[in-house]
Amino acid sequence: MALVSIFPTAEAAAAAVAERVLAKVSAEPDAVLGLATGQTPRKVYARMVEACGKGEVSFSSATTFNLDEYCGLPAAHPDSYAAYMQRELFHRTDFSPANINLIDGSAADEKSEASRYAALLRKQPVDIQLLGLGVNGHIGFNEPGSALASTVRVVELSEETLHANLPTLLVLDKVPERAITMGISDILRAREIIVLATGSAKADAVRRCLEEEQTADCPGSYLSGHPNVQWFVDQAAASKLRNGPRA
Ligand code: GLP
Repeated sequence: MALVSIFPTAEAAAAAVAERVLAKVSAEPDAVLGLATGQTPRKVYARMVEACGKGEVSFSSATTFNLDEYCGLPAAHPDSYAAYMQRELFHRTDFSPANINLIDGSAADEKSEASRYAALLRKQPVDIQLLGLGVNGHIGFNEPGSALASTVRVVELSEETLHANLPTLLVLDKVPERAITMGISDILRAREIIVLATGSAKADAVRRCLEEEQTADCPGSYLSGHPNVQWFVDQAAASKLRNGPRA
């Protein structure tokens, strides 16, 4: 059973997620963090930056693994997820570059890049995995149709995702059509999973993940098979749940 916490605002939901991550790193400074990109976690990262700046926490012994990356973009490209992470978090905190694991979207051999990342993940299981949710229910870039047993691999992005991610681009005028992503089975190996979903655009996906049977049509629904998953949603994202939003 997933634990679902509903907050009055997106800000409050993000603040609660940030406090959970900060508590984890304070208790276990060498924690392995699984990190997500997108608009939703930006406020979580802003709070982590603030806490580090004030000396409330140090990330210097923590390790990170990002979920996914667009194919064809070098880390320095402003639209790469690597650049996003540097901007939002890594450059503004004391994470040690040696402990930051990112997928190289510009690797000439994408399959061997996926294998390299999978091997690293096997060696260092994620303690706490932060996830966002796609409007189509994707987690990472595991699009509808992804298998429960999927691992790190090259994927084709769905039309829905190409459309949904368009406004997030800084430089490109078209979303890359392929990506490398952790698989569903990699995500489910994390000891603890935190999903942050906010805004009415996510309401359908949240309802499907929490109230429908597990199905490849909505990859986030696989999360209900994990023993330690907590959902942090705002009222808008909770608005289609059977019991409705409750603060
Ligand atoms: C992207 C990422 C996901 C992210 C999702 C939602 O496609 N691959 O990891 O969770 O979009 O993004 P946003 O938070 O911008 O809605």
